[in-house]
Amino acid sequence: MTTLKIDDYIFEPYIDRLKISERTQVLANEMAQAEFDKKPVFLVIMTGAYVFAADLLRLLDFTCEVRFIRVKSYAGMQSTGHFQIESDRLENLEDRNIIILEDIVDTGRTITKIKEVLATKNPKTIQICSLLSKPSAHLSPIDIQYLGFEIPDEFVIGYGLDYNDQGRNLPDIWKVKP
Ligand code: IMP
Repeated sequence: MTTLKIDDYIFEPYIDRLKISERTQVLANEMAQAEFDKKPVFLVIMTGAYVFAADLLRLLDFTCEVRFIRVKSYAGMQSTGHFQIESDRLENLEDRNIIILEDIVDTGRTITKIKEVLATKNPKTIQICSLLSKPSAHLSPIDIQYLGFEIPDEFVIGYGLDYNDQGRNLPDIWKVKP
């Protein structure tokens, strides 16, 4: 089987680009039905969600606003639990329908923190759209309205996701070999 070596880790193919694009289209269709009249604000969490966001947002056939926010929480393969939201892009969210676009929900700390911060801006609704989720790693129940794939608690790269800033450009998703 093809493998990929990044630093000390070997990765193997996991979710291919065709599966990702089929699933992304399904999510776009679901959104078109649910969000069509709502002019949502998409908050894209940088950096990992940039590829997913670019593909998903171009499939939407309704008016929306797109903003980018940066949250840093990972060092290597460990979620650090320390967060920085580096953005002045959280203004004028009162009464808006917000959809957070994430690459992956792991422990759920990041998304929970972002939701807490957003709630102080008095939006009408806050929803989550994530390409991937690791339910067995969630620290508390997390409602994900639009989810690409549930995966086991394994480290993945590609399609925007990185290991030490490498692998984001891979068109498919790869998982670390035990
Ligand atoms: P959480 O706060 O533990 O849910 O972590 C969320 C963030 O950690 C994601 O936005 C990713 O940037 C990063 N992350 C979590 N799991 C992975 C993974 O398997 N590969 C790459 N990045 C990951």
